[in-house]
Amino acid sequence: MNVYFRGMKQSVTILAIESSCDDTSAAVLRNGEVLSNITANQDVHRDYGGVVPELASRAHQQHIVPVVVKALDKAGVDKNDLNAVAFTLGPGLIGSLLVGVSFGKSLALSLGIPIITVHHMKAHVLAHFIDAPRPSFPFLCLTVSGGHTQIVLVKDYLDMEVVGETIDDAAGEAFDKTAKMLGLSYPGGPIIDKLAKEGDPHAFKFAEPKAHRPLDFSFSGLKTSILYNLRKEKEKDAAFVAKNLPDICASVQYTIIKILMQRLRLAAEQFGIKDIAIAGGVSANSGLRAAVAEAGDKHGWNVYIPQFQYCTDNAGMIAMTAYYQYLQGDFASMDVAPKSRFAI
Ligand code: KG4
Ligand code: ZN
Repeated sequence: MNVYFRGMKQSVTILAIESSCDDTSAAVLRNGEVLSNITANQDVHRDYGGVVPELASRAHQQHIVPVVVKALDKAGVDKNDLNAVAFTLGPGLIGSLLVGVSFGKSLALSLGIPIITVHHMKAHVLAHFIDAPRPSFPFLCLTVSGGHTQIVLVKDYLDMEVVGETIDDAAGEAFDKTAKMLGLSYPGGPIIDKLAKEGDPHAFKFAEPKAHRPLDFSFSGLKTSILYNLRKEKEKDAAFVAKNLPDICASVQYTIIKILMQRLRLAAEQFGIKDIAIAGGVSANSGLRAAVAEAGDKHGWNVYIPQFQYCTDNAGMIAMTAYYQYLQGDFASMDVAPKSRFAI
């Protein structure tokens, strides 16, 4: 391991970069406090029903410098005061990751400071330590994003175990693919969330597929069930979707949340844990936030729901994770390469 230190410093200042999917984000942290968190979203994917990897990496290249400059400016930090540069190593889209990884390495090399490589899903969990109230160990975190759906047993800041996960599609993917079937734009989750508020969650019934292991999820069967139901109804009435959009959205959202909550309750029971958190893009969903709060009241859980800005991809959570790694002296070698998949 090559570690480049700029001499001993009392305080720890880290620049963190997140570029694993379609958001370019940079954050500056000092001594465990996130001073700035700047994110540029990519509108180029809106018409495609999902992220187009090549367009995503090109947009990251355009955004990375202005986003980093803005994060440093907002934090009032000069790049020469940084002690380390952190970036997401994976999992994610390889072309997108490559932009953050290359930029982060180059900047660190030019400043003569170490790099810290961060696991994206671990960072979603540690977003809970950016602000109070912070969960105490051990706790369970339902991490639900566009690419992952996991129940994580969090034993310590950097000691986590995935105890349940999806065997096919992620919960966010179920939202996004449903939105595509309904002719809505990408990302579909927030649009379905908004429309669902006006609809009846019991108007339509969809399949609730189970995986072999009780804490695992399967969303691909739900997607097929929605597709077949819509097809059948549209044969009877071509204007079915237009006439029933809020009810369809509310029913789909209800089914996704029901599946998530069933596994989460089971995990809480199985591990005897009452500190329960949610994280990831789908944790911004108003229905899921309400369902977790309600389950908290019912089962006596201490519930941790992140602020909206730390639900979807952001570099604040990468900075927070990097800070704990920094304290453990967990620096990476300059020859690291991005990884599209790797274990938490
Ligand atoms: O964590 P994230 O920003 O990126 C990944 O790591 O994938 O999550 C993005 C996902 C998308 O699938 C998006 O539709 C979903 O989070 N999402 C939502 C909401 N806001 C974002 N899903 C449901 N309701 C929302 N309000
Ligand atoms: Zn994410």
